[in-house]
Amino acid sequence: MATYQDALAVLRRHGQEHLLGFCGELPAQGRQGLLEQIQSIDFDQLDRLIPTHVLSSPAPQLPREIVPAPVLPAAPRDPAAQAAYAQARRRGREAIAAGRVAALVVAGGDGTRLGFAGPKGSLPVTPVRRKTLFQVFAEGLLACRRFYGGNVPWYIMTSPANDAATREFFARNKFFGLPAEDVFFFAQGRMPALGRDGKILLADKGLIAWNPDGHGGSVTALRRSGALDDMARRQIEVISYFQVDNPLVHCVDPLFVGLHLEAGAEMSAKALPKRDPLEKLGNFCLVDGKATVIEYSDLPEELARATRPDGTLKFSAGSIAIHLFSRGFLEKLTAGGECRLPFHRALKKAPCLAPTGVRIQPDQPNAVKLEMFVFDALPLAKETVILETLRDEEFSPVKNSTGEDSLATCLHDQVRRAARWLENAGLRLPRDAAGQPAAAVEISPLAALEADDLIGKIHPERIQAGQELYLE
Ligand code: UD1
Repeated sequence: MATYQDALAVLRRHGQEHLLGFCGELPAQGRQGLLEQIQSIDFDQLDRLIPTHVLSSPAPQLPREIVPAPVLPAAPRDPAAQAAYAQARRRGREAIAAGRVAALVVAGGDGTRLGFAGPKGSLPVTPVRRKTLFQVFAEGLLACRRFYGGNVPWYIMTSPANDAATREFFARNKFFGLPAEDVFFFAQGRMPALGRDGKILLADKGLIAWNPDGHGGSVTALRRSGALDDMARRQIEVISYFQVDNPLVHCVDPLFVGLHLEAGAEMSAKALPKRDPLEKLGNFCLVDGKATVIEYSDLPEELARATRPDGTLKFSAGSIAIHLFSRGFLEKLTAGGECRLPFHRALKKAPCLAPTGVRIQPDQPNAVKLEMFVFDALPLAKETVILETLRDEEFSPVKNSTGEDSLATCLHDQVRRAARWLENAGLRLPRDAAGQPAAAVEISPLAALEADDLIGKIHPERIQAGQELYLE
């Protein structure tokens, strides 16, 4: 058990003794809680990070030569490549049918931009039934059984702050029909928020201001929580990773899985052509021959705008945070118990206590948040596949409360995709003057995982403008 004297000695060595400033005002339990939080901090690691990431802002260490990473097309024209894709799709389906593929969603972010109280996965997002993000993914995984015949266990990364609420949400909704033993929750790690002077911030007298350690924390958290062991017991080979904010994601994509397996890849990624040179997506580059994601904020504007002789963008492949990992790769990364990916800094507004004990509600960023990014594992992989996908088919995240990447744009994109799938299957839909679908249509993943799943299943009737249509 942590004692006050031990904690004080450690804090003094690291110049953080202010953390005990209000300890005398806390009841015994609160005091013990604070001592335990202090004990959980890796102060040596913080001492290394504070000079470079807090007191100064590291200029991005860009390599001398950055070239675009090779990307496989979404739909190749070459007959030999088409045959290879067909073979990969078969192999992917077989792997799913054999129960060798798991899904992993990272849902530990604090969703500050969206301003939604509660785990982001519990946000209602679909146009007709208002299903939540978690329900959409759960149905996608149930549908894998229906369409491919395999059981896909689901690993859900929460944060210490939203873990209990996330588990409770699933329990309340009876796991959306999934067997509870196939859903594995695990909480990611956390890092203290720091003031611009390198001092750890207190959120309250007995509470450190914590942040989740970034989605890169998923790798270590998979190991620590026993999730990797659970995957080994189930003989999982491939883990399909996606973010909680994108209801269009194909949770498990047979083609992608098959291409990854055929290439013997350790980590793979999906890419899409950026909408414009400065779109806020990570960029797929080759650095020393290794596939690497360079965040939009780190790629110099002149490179972001560079074009090829035909006028297209040179660095057009943007990362949408959909990855595949081989289990062996995750085991290798965490062989020493944890995976130390580099930390990145972000400035944020963190409510905290002033040294006087007065509560501060900042209107300007006052804190540094330290996070790891999962895509920093990409260059560590021996082999990588980067596969282009289509924006309309697979990417419309809910990140902001209004404007771009908001619930409004996502609803619109879901309806447009559903309308395209229905029209592909022979249904005629009303369109407005701008050519947009004039009826609210929603297709559950249980009805179709891709457009062709609907062919032959739709009565080709016309539906009226303003009507709602839901397919399950
Ligand atoms: C992210 C990617 C960006 C990519 C974009 C695609 C980073 C730094 N950037 O941007 O390259 O193009 O998505 O949508 O990631 N999360 C956790 N724990 C954390 C932090 C985040 O689980 O500690 C989860 C969130 O719940 C969410 C996802 O990671 O599912 C993305 O986090 P977010 O901070 O929203 O990333 P973006 O800045 O949108």
